[in-house]
Amino acid sequence: MEADPANLALVASGSFGTSLRDDVLAGFAQPQRTLPAKWFYDQRGSELFEAICATPEYYVTRTELAILQRCLDEVARALPTGAVLIEPGSGAGTKTRLLVEACQPCAYVAIDISRSMLSIGARETAVRFPSLQVLAIHADYTRLDVLPDERLPVGAPRVLYFPGSTVGNFTPEETRAFLGRVARWIGPGGSVLIGVDTRKDPAVLEAAYDDRQGVTAAFNLNLLARLNAELGCAFDLSRFRHRARYDAVLGRVEMHLESLADQQVEVAGVVHALRDGETIHTENSYKYEPAAFRSLAADSGYTCRATWTDDAQAFAIYHLVADAADGGGQPACAP
Ligand code: AVI
Repeated sequence: MEADPANLALVASGSFGTSLRDDVLAGFAQPQRTLPAKWFYDQRGSELFEAICATPEYYVTRTELAILQRCLDEVARALPTGAVLIEPGSGAGTKTRLLVEACQPCAYVAIDISRSMLSIGARETAVRFPSLQVLAIHADYTRLDVLPDERLPVGAPRVLYFPGSTVGNFTPEETRAFLGRVARWIGPGGSVLIGVDTRKDPAVLEAAYDDRQGVTAAFNLNLLARLNAELGCAFDLSRFRHRARYDAVLGRVEMHLESLADQQVEVAGVVHALRDGETIHTENSYKYEPAAFRSLAADSGYTCRATWTDDAQAFAIYHLVADAADGGGQPACAP
């Protein structure tokens, strides 16, 4: 195995919150059975997610990348140089390397729940940019209250990068709480560059989450394979099917695993009866009109300084700046 580059440090924060077992027990005890989406990302799940990003139907990744490439100079002018760039859920980090080249941060903090994805992505960034200090934090970023400030450059402005519409996997209330926590990481005047999917034709949205090659179906079903491997469950994957449907009222795509028969499943010592047609809810992907997202950001203590989008407004990237701790009260920028 190759030695880590000198500019890379890997730390474990110990912030993992609940365990897979606890989450599954709690989720299966509800009338609408649920499994939290964060557990999709084991090694296989992370690989399947990368494959989803390359399917013709999943426009999210390529649309965001195209916007970033087209607007990169403007984005770089909007963000401070010499900043600490922080990326929760850093994964493979392809878009990040574009941003690092354009914005010249002094340090990069990658945070990910998947240790393998974290070390691969952070290592690649450290090798490619030898003068960049790279700190890889193995943690569940939704549980991380503070960053290890003692390991970061003092006084450098902070920029949080949150691409891929990952924020859509939170409910609006969770988004407010997350942006509030982020404001503490970056401080007043700190920046957030965030990519968010927009509302659109339900047929386009449902196809994006139910591609013809069946990659998204395999990604969803892999959650049950993970329960079999890690919790000793005995789910028969052929007795479930992947479902994706858009709820236009809530503005979210829901993914479910539908039972194809009346069946009994044992989860961590508890037997559950699943009816034919009953579903396990595995993911929400909220979609926001730009004005609605800016207003959510304003409620969370941010001012929107810029919005970059494609001609069809299929996706949007926002530059938010954290208000002063006293609230500041400035309005979000106009639609
Ligand atoms: C990671 N996240 C933003 C993806 C999404 O679009 O909600 C996960 C995903 N689920 C199915 N396809 C992609």
